[in-house]
Amino acid sequence: MTPPHLQASQPALRFGRLIGVSLGPGDPDLITRRGWAALQSGARWAYPVKRAEESSYALGIARRGGLEIPADVAELVFPMTRDATALAKAWTRAASRTVEWLASGRDVAFLVEGDASTYSTFRHLARAVRELAPAVTVETIPGVSSFAAAAARADVALAEEDETLAIIPAAYGVPVIDHLLDEFDTLVLMKVKPLLDEVLDLLERRGLIATSCFIEKVGSPEERVVRDVASLRGEKVNYLSLLLVQNPKRVRGELRRGCRKRSEASYIPAAAEAAT
Ligand SMILES: C[S@@+](CC[C@H](N)C(=O)[O-])C[C@H]1O[C@@H](n2cnc3c(N)ncnc32)[C@H](O)[C@@H]1O
Repeated sequence: MTPPHLQASQPALRFGRLIGVSLGPGDPDLITRRGWAALQSGARWAYPVKRAEESSYALGIARRGGLEIPADVAELVFPMTRDATALAKAWTRAASRTVEWLASGRDVAFLVEGDASTYSTFRHLARAVRELAPAVTVETIPGVSSFAAAAARADVALAEEDETLAIIPAAYGVPVIDHLLDEFDTLVLMKVKPLLDEVLDLLERRGLIATSCFIEKVGSPEERVVRDVASLRGEKVNYLSLLLVQNPKRVRGELRRGCRKRSEASYIPAAAEAAT
């Protein structure tokens, strides 16, 4: 229930903006200029944690960038649980605290690791805040996602020309991943930690070990790029890790529209991509 003093119908109330500030996946040099400006704008900083007083990877990126951490920076707890009641309680608490801060008229900068629109708590928070206070303006500052940075570090393309790309949580399981390998030239398997061994078995069966790459905590001082992914079998990897899987054996369908229908002689892929 929204406290009366926070209700949007109160004419005198001018909420601050809720800003989702993408910080990129670890290297502070990948914070955008807009993100940097938002952090230095005097907005109140908030960051997500799974447990109270836990350290924050996102805050660590800002710290490594040399930004001064404001004294009133605050954590918001989003527990990793399937208990619906506990979750609902935590969400309501986080949203209410945020609305209270916004009601002072000051912006809130919510620090997000990677990109704020990609598997991020920010979208949930924005929804919950709007439910309590529909008048709040939400701004999302986009950023470099973990998989964009990972592909760059691994020196591979996510997609070229008319290739297909899928980004999925590995939790869909091996049968789904197996199927998607027939449909996509590149798969990004996010949140791969709990299923790593099963996925490695699948890649082995499909002969895709050599065209896969594992990247952990990309851009951070603990970054790890593992090309011999079979060597990871049995290892307990960090949650902040992903697998890039390329399937050069995929049989592609014919495109109805686009590059491949043009005369092969006149089509120069590099020139076409440079135009986009
Ligand atoms: C909740 S999602 C956050 C995604 C993030 N917002 C992004 O834009 O990439 C967490 C998953 O993203 C991937 N991830 C996030 N940061 C990473 C990093 N620095 N290095 C490797 N993978 C990362 C991992 O697969 C992790 O399990």
